[in-house]
Amino acid sequence: MKQANNLSKRGIKAAANAMRVDLDLYYQVLENPYHPEKNPTGAIPMNMAENHLGWELLHEKIQHICRQQTLTDWTSSYGDPAGVLSFREAVCGYFERFLKVKPLDPANLACSAGATAVIEMSSFLLANPGDTAVIPAPSYPVYTADLQVFSGVERYDLQVEMGKAISLVKLDEAKSSIKASGSECKLLILTQPDNPTGKIYTLQELNQLADWCISNEVHMIVNEIYGMSLIDTQHPTITKDYPTDDCFHSFLQVIEERKSPFLHFWYSFSKDLGISGFRVGAMYSHNQELIKGYRNVGLSHAISNYTQWLMQEVLTDTAFMDRFITHSQAALTENYAAIIHTLKSLKIPYTPSYGSLFVWANLSEFLQEHSAAGEEKLWLDIFHETGILLTPTNGFGHSEKGWYRMVISSQPLEGIQEAMRRLSSFVSYRRA
Ligand SMILES: Cc1ncc(COP(=O)(O)O)c(C=O)c1O
Repeated sequence: MKQANNLSKRGIKAAANAMRVDLDLYYQVLENPYHPEKNPTGAIPMNMAENHLGWELLHEKIQHICRQQTLTDWTSSYGDPAGVLSFREAVCGYFERFLKVKPLDPANLACSAGATAVIEMSSFLLANPGDTAVIPAPSYPVYTADLQVFSGVERYDLQVEMGKAISLVKLDEAKSSIKASGSECKLLILTQPDNPTGKIYTLQELNQLADWCISNEVHMIVNEIYGMSLIDTQHPTITKDYPTDDCFHSFLQVIEERKSPFLHFWYSFSKDLGISGFRVGAMYSHNQELIKGYRNVGLSHAISNYTQWLMQEVLTDTAFMDRFITHSQAALTENYAAIIHTLKSLKIPYTPSYGSLFVWANLSEFLQEHSAAGEEKLWLDIFHETGILLTPTNGFGHSEKGWYRMVISSQPLEGIQEAMRRLSSFVSYRRA
């Protein structure tokens, strides 16, 4: 039957599917937020991947720029859809400084309005509708929509034993099974530090996977949207969780060494700088045809020139950026350690994180039923009994039930400590 509102099939699907299943509860939480004095029984949002830990510093810096600096004339005109050159230079300078890979060429950088737009643009240009992207599970739920809605690319959740490396045999099997289903394995997408586990990859693993991708003509993309949100693994509360001295190595290093048209990097300022509302993302690649295509069709996903100007002013103040990143990582580590301290004392399993804005914890002992419905019930019980809103479990793509993601950067330390007091009471009550 024809719909009265006469939308396309795509439009009907878009109108029928909410962006996230937790939005209604999240808005409830925002109307009644916890405050130690003003609202001590208020709700605590730990579902949305937002980082509020450095905003005070950044806010002051941005206000200062807006008052002191003269806005350049190019902000009012059309610009390069992949980002104006001075902005791309500033972003490359930021990567060189904090991801420690030098020199980077701004000609290899294409920018869009946030990682979501970068993922859409890249999947649109690299894969055909019906092709498949392999993603090790568990992983960011919204990859499904970002790959599907505009580009028609399917997501294949590769089951990896929690905390273990991706085996090449498993990748071969995934590729064959995708082929047998009539699709083509076109992309391998990794996130590091990972959402939700905080996992990182060794250089050896990245190189091995790059070898596999290049020889199989699969595009390998590493999303380092949490690349500066690193946890200090020397913190006394958590340091025993890290028996080896693994540390974060940016995939840019592998890209720069190999200069292969199959290797790409994604980034966005939404998380490390806590400015998801600014909508600023980037892709880096030596594939010049990809950059050309990006530039030719990227206008609908472009970042406003005003935002690019503001961001280049922020990023090129290296003394400020050093202070900001140091402050942000210290605050993130304190919040992380406070949560891990509680989980350890409650004997709740978790995956030790090297970075990201999350703790990935196993609450399966409290499931009444090991099913999606059981997970949803526990998620709602935790919210109604404690006021803590965790991320719902659907969409991460792994097969083990009962793992929940906690966002550690939505609150100052005091809010996280209150959440942990409430979680401890919940656990004691349930166990009793
Ligand atoms: C892995 C990953 N990629 C992309 C995004 C989306 O980022 P943006 O807000 O820059 O579109 C997120 C947000 O949570 C994420 O975790």
